[in-house]
Formats: sequence, C-alpha cells, structure tokens
Amino acid sequence: MNTMEWHDAGLLLLDQTLLPIEVKYINCSTVEDVVEAIKTMKVRGAPAIGVAAAYGLALGALHSESIDRMSFDNEIEVAGRMLGATRPTAVNLFWALNRMLDVLHSNCDKGVPEMKRILLDEAHRILLEDIEMNQRIGSFGSQLVPPGARVLTHCNAGALATGGYGTALGVIRAAHESGKQIQVFADETRPLLQGARLTAWELQQDNIPVTLITDSMAGYLMRKGIIDLAVVGADRIAANGDVANKIGTYTVAVLCREHGIPFYVAAPISTIDMNLDNGDDIVIEERETVEVTAVFGQQIAPQGIKVFNPAFDITPHRLITAIITDRGILRPPYKESLKNIFV
Ligand code: MRU
Repeated sequence: MNTMEWHDAGLLLLDQTLLPIEVKYINCSTVEDVVEAIKTMKVRGAPAIGVAAAYGLALGALHSESIDRMSFDNEIEVAGRMLGATRPTAVNLFWALNRMLDVLHSNCDKGVPEMKRILLDEAHRILLEDIEMNQRIGSFGSQLVPPGARVLTHCNAGALATGGYGTALGVIRAAHESGKQIQVFADETRPLLQGARLTAWELQQDNIPVTLITDSMAGYLMRKGIIDLAVVGADRIAANGDVANKIGTYTVAVLCREHGIPFYVAAPISTIDMNLDNGDDIVIEERETVEVTAVFGQQIAPQGIKVFNPAFDITPHRLITAIITDRGILRPPYKESLKNIFV
C-alpha cells in the first residue's frame, strides 16, 4: 500500500486521518488541495510532507496558463510560499520546495511546456530518492538491533510518514526482514494517536509483532526490563544533533537515559538543518486545542478548558545514542559527525 501515488489526474494520497478505520485515497489536483491535505494531516510525517509539497508545486506548474517564463516562475514561487506556510517544524518541507525552486531557477533557458515536465520529473525523483534513503537507513540501523530485541517507538515514522519503507520503522522493518525476531512496542502518541492509528496498523499489515501501549506506560516497561532500545524519527535535526520530533519524544529519551537504554533517531539527510546551530531555534508548531479536548469528534474535557498543544518537542543531542542516516550511523560529537556527512 503506497502513501502517495502520481496518476494522470494528480496526486493520490492515502487519507491518514481516516486510518485505521477506513482505507481511502483522496485526489489532489491543485496546489490548494495539497496545501489543505498537509494542513489537515491527511498526509503527515516529515519526509511525506516534503514529497507531497514537491508534487504540489508540480501540480501548480502543470495547471499554469502562463505563456512566458516570468509569469510562470512567479506563479510557482507563489505556490511555493503557500505550501511552505502549511507546517513549520519539519524541514523536509522546505528542503523539497527549495530543491524544486532551484531546478526552476537553474533552467531559465527552458520554455514553459518543458519546465512543466522538468518539475514533475523532479518531484518523481524526490519520491524515489526518499524511498531509497529509507532503505539505506534500514540497512544501517538494523545493525544496531540485536536478535530478539524489544523495540520502543513513538509516533509514526513509517512508510506512511515517508515516500515508503519508513525511517524508524525502516530500521524495524529491515531488522524484521533479516530474521531477527524482534518485537515492537508502539506508544499510542496522543493527541492525534499516530502510534495507535498508524504505526500499529502499518506493522500489523506487515506481520511485524507489535504491542500497543499508552504513552504513560513506557517508563514502567523500561523499569521492568521489557525494552532493549528505542528508535524514533525526526522532523528537524540541528547542526549540534538536537532533534525535533513528535511531542513526547523527549520524555522517551529521558526515560531511556534513566534506564540505560540506547535511544536512536533515524532520519534521511533531508531532515538535517545545518543552518540551525541548536534545537532552541526550531519553530514548534502549535495546533488546535480540539486535538486535545476531543478524540474522534468525542469531547473528553470540560467545555472552555484552557489547553496547550505543542505538536513537537526537542530532544537534546546528549540524550541521543546515535543518529541513523542514509549516509551511515552518526555518533557524538554530532557537531563533527553531522558536518562530515556533507563533505
Ligand atoms: O505531526 P506528524 O504526524 O507529522 O509528526 C510526525 C513525526 O513526528 C515523525 O516522527 C517525523 O515526522 C518523522 S517521520 C519519518
């Protein structure tokens, strides 16, 4: 099952707000459709948002009625700004948009019809490269997973969150495929339940043994010696190795440190933001209060209650045992190891 697919009428997205109750694809045929799908989290997960945005820009190009390059380029830049204003934390969104805009600007000698083709090809390339990067992350990361390991993960960093295969779940998938007989514990991941709705579903589909727990149970399992390692994805990694990921990730990292359990982050290079010295400068998205006060439309808190709903947190680099990238396994000091993968 693919998270997204290109077809003649546009971009087909598996609507992740409906999973696991309903498996339904929606068709995005305009930039506005893609903007809406990202904002409402029909497509979510840092790499998947990036790929969807690239296709959004390609859709903007394909539907453009501009004849000259100047007005065509203006239209694409406006579309880029619309897509860039959807979700602030995952840097993959801006990475993919910048890559598309670089292609636009470095082909200024091409006519509009040819440019439409070039931009669509670039979006296809971003999708394929993302899947390949995840497979490489999987094969590097699986070396860190001992046979029989009991692995905790948080949120969904799987095929659903990427072009395919997944980052943290890519590591888990690769370890499973190599016959390591692992077991996964999935945090449910309130408020939007990406662990319960998506990770549990995705692993079940692939027959990877998974046990669902609520977020508050992780410490108890660790203390009982039931968790051997934790692996999570990332939305943005700063130059010093600080990691933004789904709210609750920091708590898991602190618990791992307390219990002497390795805590791994798995992410492609499109998630690394060398422009930010540390995690303090990462913008943390705050989402609507209803995500906390209601579950599947059912109100669970008193009317009018004050709510705080940050969607991500920052895990300081000192709590991270290793960062698994498509270019290899990085160890502290991350300032050095991250810089080295870009030379
Ligand atoms: O708000 P979401 O569901 O987009 O958040 C997703 C996460 O935090 C993932 O762990 C992260 O994007 C990595 S996905 C490979």
